[in-house]
Amino acid sequence: MDKIVVEGGASLKGEVKISGSKNAALPILVSSLLADGWNTYSNVPGLRDIKSIKQLLSYLGAKVETDGSTVRIDGSGLCKSEAPYDLVRKMRASILVLGPLVARLKKARVSLPGGCAIGARPINLHLKGLARLGASVELKHGYVEVSAERLKGNEIYFDIPTVTGTENLMMAAVLADGVTVLRNAACEPEIVALADVLNKMGADIHGAGASIITIKGVQSMHPVSVSIIPDRIEAGTFMVSAALTRGDITILDCQPAHMGTLIHKLRLTGTAIKIDGKNIHVIGSDEIESIDIKTLPYPGFPTDMQAQFMVLMLIAKGLSIISETVFENRFIHVSELRRMGADITISGNSAMIKGVPMLLGAPVIATDLRASASLILAGLVARGKTEVHRVYHLDRGYEAIEKKFARLGASIERVRE
Ligand code: EPU
Repeated sequence: MDKIVVEGGASLKGEVKISGSKNAALPILVSSLLADGWNTYSNVPGLRDIKSIKQLLSYLGAKVETDGSTVRIDGSGLCKSEAPYDLVRKMRASILVLGPLVARLKKARVSLPGGCAIGARPINLHLKGLARLGASVELKHGYVEVSAERLKGNEIYFDIPTVTGTENLMMAAVLADGVTVLRNAACEPEIVALADVLNKMGADIHGAGASIITIKGVQSMHPVSVSIIPDRIEAGTFMVSAALTRGDITILDCQPAHMGTLIHKLRLTGTAIKIDGKNIHVIGSDEIESIDIKTLPYPGFPTDMQAQFMVLMLIAKGLSIISETVFENRFIHVSELRRMGADITISGNSAMIKGVPMLLGAPVIATDLRASASLILAGLVARGKTEVHRVYHLDRGYEAIEKKFARLGASIERVRE
């Protein structure tokens, strides 16, 4: 397995181009199952999670072709209704095939994803929603079995706004009879991106991006050519790297409107941020101010940026409280960061961080995707060498991150162990 070796201390400077969004691309590639014919997706990031979803779609009978960042998928061969354990356990987002499979094949058998490092992550709200559309839902031998001769539109209320749950239900409802109303739906930009693609395919969806989404079922959908939106979490990670290393980075080809809360919070730390169309210019300040953050569903502060932001607070002036309200166990990076000299006290779902003058490089282990990114960020600013082990988590969600950091002047390399 590879490790990333970082020699800290460089002030990062230059331009970095942001890749397509992982969490937008995953449901959009799955939406290809809803129509017959070739769909073309451009700006698809080259990530392990994307490879996993393509494998699953091929397994289900779709034809998949990849040429660089362009992926073509024809869902007309869809014939299998089962997503097996081996494919689902690699990536929880495989659960996204549930809605389209029931809509197209009248049944689905998908392995239950189970918990993961950041929390239990149940899918009860996906299943309750499908039941509200008239599907029969059973759990058997670690699999969820869903069937419906014909899905029927209905009112669905999510007790918690769930991103993949909202996406799954939107994809199930587009071909249902009648009108479905999703209440307390997730509002993330990735939901809007999926709704835009589904509407382009012939669906009739209104309200995506707000908490009430209305979907009028249609008879059939057709294939499309679309480009994947930029990854707001990748962009945010590079913004934090500029603030952290007192650098000067221009983030190219991102969507600043998707990052309002992060931009606001970073400015409060003293970081200078200028927005110019699709580019964001970030200049770090010599003195980083401590501020508090609380993760929340969009447009609140994204949980996927919590670990990276925490690293900035490690070397800020004063005390910061970070509260994680989305996932119950998303502080697993803390014990590794402490090994680098961080002063963090955890109490329930809050972390109290006392800024220290410097971090010291150390061997550390990546435990999940965003935790991996935080350890690399810590390595960039630490004195000496940091070795981040188990980087396969990182490859799930960041495209060539070490190459992008190296181009900005970081001393960083990937080493085969
Ligand atoms: N939840 C339930 N029941 C459900 C579904 C969710 O209780 O049926 C709870 C979860 O346990 C969690 C909360 O609701 O406490 C929100 O979870 P959500 O369902 O929104 O998360 P997700 O859809 O599984 C997506 C992203 C995550 C991101 C979260 C929150 C994808 C493929 N994944 O997960 O991305 O952290 O939304 O924004 O879109 C990442 O990219 O590193 C990542 C983990």
